[in-house]
Amino acid sequence: MAFNDIFMSFTSISWTDTQTLLLFFTIFLLISEQLRNRKPKNFPPGPTCYPFLGNILSLDVAQLHLQLTKMSDNYGNIFSLRMGGKDCIVINTYTMIKKALVDQADTFSARPPSDVFKKINKCQGISFNNGYSWKQQRRFILSTLKNFGVGKRNLEWSIKEEFNFLNKVIINTEGKPFDAHYLINNTVSNIICSLVFGKRFEYTDKRFLNMLNLMSKGLKLQGSLWTQLYDSFPNLMELFPGPHKDMVSCFKQLCSFLNEEIKAHHADWDPSSPRDFIDCYLTEIEKRRDDPEAGFHEDGLCDVLLDLFIAGTETTSTTLLWSFVYMMKFPEIQENVQAEIDRVIGQSRQPCMADRPNMPYTDAVIHEIQRMGNILPLNIPRFTTKNTMLGGFFIPKGTPIIPNLTSVLFDETQWKSPHSFDPQNFLNPQGEFIKPEAFLPFSAGKRVCPGESLARMELFLFFTSILQVFTLSPPAGTKPSLEFELGVTLSPKPFKMTARPRWQ
Ligand code: HEM
Repeated sequence: MAFNDIFMSFTSISWTDTQTLLLFFTIFLLISEQLRNRKPKNFPPGPTCYPFLGNILSLDVAQLHLQLTKMSDNYGNIFSLRMGGKDCIVINTYTMIKKALVDQADTFSARPPSDVFKKINKCQGISFNNGYSWKQQRRFILSTLKNFGVGKRNLEWSIKEEFNFLNKVIINTEGKPFDAHYLINNTVSNIICSLVFGKRFEYTDKRFLNMLNLMSKGLKLQGSLWTQLYDSFPNLMELFPGPHKDMVSCFKQLCSFLNEEIKAHHADWDPSSPRDFIDCYLTEIEKRRDDPEAGFHEDGLCDVLLDLFIAGTETTSTTLLWSFVYMMKFPEIQENVQAEIDRVIGQSRQPCMADRPNMPYTDAVIHEIQRMGNILPLNIPRFTTKNTMLGGFFIPKGTPIIPNLTSVLFDETQWKSPHSFDPQNFLNPQGEFIKPEAFLPFSAGKRVCPGESLARMELFLFFTSILQVFTLSPPAGTKPSLEFELGVTLSPKPFKMTARPRWQ
């Protein structure tokens, strides 16, 4: 048939024909969607979902962790959600999450493929990498961070030094209200920066402050509905401007900053005397030329740096921000911590890690801040690498998994006071520190946070150093609020505080 004939036959279709065609097409799409949606036998139950969109529009992204925890009352500890044409499974409670992430570690250790992350870093690095390359990168990160002092005295020394810079800035506030967000971000970031870049950044460094701002903004946007839609319908969303594009732009700018640092390292790199993580990685690139699958090349380096920079800054600084909020909210607990600091350390020297075993109350308070702060409430998603059974349900290979850490940290079967701020959750009747098994803010299994010991060291030293010198309170006439903002992390809403020197 000639092109002309085809064109004529289309133009001769009447309005009723067009309606019939549209109806036909819609029914066809609905049936194929229904067929694609067919669940295997024994698949976990879940709320009713709408064609194409699934459950995405009924999710409250501003408090998703609370909504998903509540949904387990109706659907049980393992339930399914449909997001953008794909079923995912939400796992709740300590027992179930342990059964999945630890007892079936091999099946539940991968990350789901993400079109959004591919746009930022091609899913190399560590956090969104998988398989052989992920194993090699993770092993390298753990051993190199250890060589540069994580868990050792020289890192303790860097943290104490950094506190001295922070101390000066806080003293200069002269007891007036200030917003600690970027100051604490910068303080904490300087520790990971000294490990990976071999240097710290001044609190007045505009370029670095801009990077911290981009990171906070990018992480907030990453948790938004727009980004969820972008990940679900990448081709369609690519056509529209919006916050999802801003998010990608934030992370791309961070990558340019990291690439400049890599370039600067290249210029005076001496493989015989590595100064920091970047130098060691450059050497590893040379060593692994014959093993391209391991992912050691310059793009890989940038992705690893992005992971370490973000994970090493935002998590610990958000926890410290929560610590300020909780200490303002519970001044009697703040006084108890200060009394223990005065008794064990005194005022003549800075706190050190050797003090921790002698300070069970302070240790319990820090753990309780982490539990209630719940900064990664839905963990980072996982992905099944084979068909499996969990809690009597069938979960097929290739299913995205949300291990709901909120349901663990507030699990009513595991905690003395699951829903209130109570350091007794971590103390036995003799006042000794105890760590219940359900304390999993760093998650569990093969993907467990590789920065745990660094974070725990920073939290103990910064928290005790601050309360040794200052008393934190809300500005006159205001009350501290436990309200939160949910992006990738759960952080306190912006707040101001006053820090009064304890001894003048
Ligand atoms: C209070 C501080 C921190 C908390 C609560 C925290 C928590 C977590 C959690 C829940 C995960 C996901 C684990 C999973 O998939 O099951 C994770 C992963 C990760 N964390 Fe942390 N983290 C903290 C600090 C740090 C620090 C300081 C670093 C820097 C070295 C870091 C580096 C990472 C990396 C690279 C991953 C990805 C690991 C992988 O995919 O194999 N984290 N973290």
